[in-house]
Amino acid sequence: MATDTILSIDFGTSNSLVGAHHEGRRYEALPIDPMAADPTMMRTLLFFPHPDLCYYGSEAISQYIEQDMEGRLFRSFKSHLPNKNYLGTMLNNRILTLESLVGVFLLELKKRAEKILNTKIEKAVIGKPARYSMDSVADGFALHRMQKAAAFAGFKDVQFVPEPLAAAFDYRRSLKSEKIVLIGDFGGGTSDFTVIRLRPEGFKKEDVLAIDGCPLAGDALDSVFMSHRLSDYFGAKSRYRLPMGSNVLTMPLAVTQRLNHPAHIVHLKEKETYEFIREVKKCSLTQKDADAVERLFVLIEDQQIFPFFESIEKTKRALSQEPQTEFKFNYPGLELTEPFTIAQFIEWSSQTKEKIFSALDRCLETAGLKTEDVDLVCLTGGTAKVPFIQNELETRFGKNRLQTQSHFHSVLSGLTESANFWSQGVL
Ligand SMILES: Nc1ncnc2c1ncn2[C@@H]1O[C@H](COP(=O)(O)OP(=O)(O)OP(=O)(O)O)[C@@H](O)[C@H]1O
Ligand SMILES: [Mg+2]
Repeated sequence: MATDTILSIDFGTSNSLVGAHHEGRRYEALPIDPMAADPTMMRTLLFFPHPDLCYYGSEAISQYIEQDMEGRLFRSFKSHLPNKNYLGTMLNNRILTLESLVGVFLLELKKRAEKILNTKIEKAVIGKPARYSMDSVADGFALHRMQKAAAFAGFKDVQFVPEPLAAAFDYRRSLKSEKIVLIGDFGGGTSDFTVIRLRPEGFKKEDVLAIDGCPLAGDALDSVFMSHRLSDYFGAKSRYRLPMGSNVLTMPLAVTQRLNHPAHIVHLKEKETYEFIREVKKCSLTQKDADAVERLFVLIEDQQIFPFFESIEKTKRALSQEPQTEFKFNYPGLELTEPFTIAQFIEWSSQTKEKIFSALDRCLETAGLKTEDVDLVCLTGGTAKVPFIQNELETRFGKNRLQTQSHFHSVLSGLTESANFWSQGVL
C-alpha cells in the first residue's frame, strides 16, 4: 500500500541525490549508491551492456570496464531535455526516448529508496534548474519531458522546485537573522541563481526576489580543453577533398561541436555522422590529416570517449588545486601527454564565465538590487570550486560576504524541506 512518503530527488547533470520525508520524519541523503566513495551521491550514469540490462552510477562505470566497454554508456543526458531535435537514441534496433532514459534512471532511484525505506513511494519533489534553456519555449518543453520521465518512473504526484531555491531553504536553516542572500549553484550542466530574503522564522513566496540561470557550467568548462587544444588531435582541423571536388574542406562544425562537448560527443556514433567521418578519412588531404581522423575512430570504436572526458575532468579539477598540470591518456593509439596551465584555462573559459555571470547580474537586476545590497553569497555545486569563479565572486562581493564552503547536499536538503512543507499541505 502507498504511504504518504515523499521522495526528494536532486537529479543532477553529473550527480544525483535522494532524500525523503517518511513517517513524519526527515531522511537526509539516502545511501543510494553503496559502491560509491560517497554512497549518498550517485553519478548520473547509465550503462546498457545490451538493451535489456542497465547499470547505474558507480556500477555503470565498473561494469563498463568489466565488459570491455562494449555497450552504451550515457552521461549528462539531463542537458538534452530542452533540445527538441534530440528525441533519444537507438539501442541496437530499439528506440530509447530521452524521456524513458531519464525515466529509467528516476525509476532506479525510486526503487533503491523504496528498498531502504521499505515502503512504496508515489510522490516526489524533484529539482529543476532555474533555466534548462535560455529559450522559454525550450525550457517549458524540458520540464514537460521531466514530467513524462517522472510518470514513467511510476510517480503519480510530483512537484518541481527550482534547484537554487531549494539550496536557499537549506541555508535558511543555519541563519540567525534576516538577510538578503544570493545563492549560486554552479553544477555540471547549469549555473543557477536566486536572490532571496531569508528569515530564520519562516518562508513566504514574496521573499523570493528573483531566480535566474544559464545552461553552462562544469561540462562547458570541460569542453574548452577539447575545443582549444585536444580536438586537433582527433582531426578537428583535418582537411579533405571530396572525389571530383576541387575545394579543400575542413572537418565541419557539426562534427567538431559534438566532439568538443561531453554531453554531445556520444552522438558521433550515430550512423550518418559516423559514415560521414569515414568519408572524410578516405578523402583526407595528407597522411597527417588521415592519422588524426583515424584517432577519432579509435576514440569512438574502442569506447574511449567516456574515459577521455574523465581525464579532461581530472585535469580541470587539478587546476583548482595547482597552477599547472599535465593531461595524460595512455590508450594504445591514443597516447597523449599535454601540459595545461590555469592561465590557459581562464583565457579559454572567458566567454563561458561571462555568460554565467551575466545570468547572475540579470538575477540581481530582476530583484531590483545592486551587489552592495546583498548581505551574503552562498555557493553550492562542484563548479563553485573553480578558482576563477570564486575570484569573480570575490571581486563583486568581497571576501567577507562570500560563503565559499560549498557542499553537494544543499539542493537535496532544501528539496527534502519542500517535501516536508508538502506533507503539511503548504507547498
Ligand atoms: N574540485 C573541483 N574543481 C572544479 N570542478 C569541479 C570540482 N569538483 C567537482 N567539479 C565539477 O562540478 C560538476 C558537478 O557538480 P554538481 O554535482 O554540483 O553538478 P550537478 O548537480 O550534477 O549538475 P546540475 O546541477 O548542473 O544539473 C562537474 O562538472 C565537476 O567536474
Ligand atoms: Mg545540481
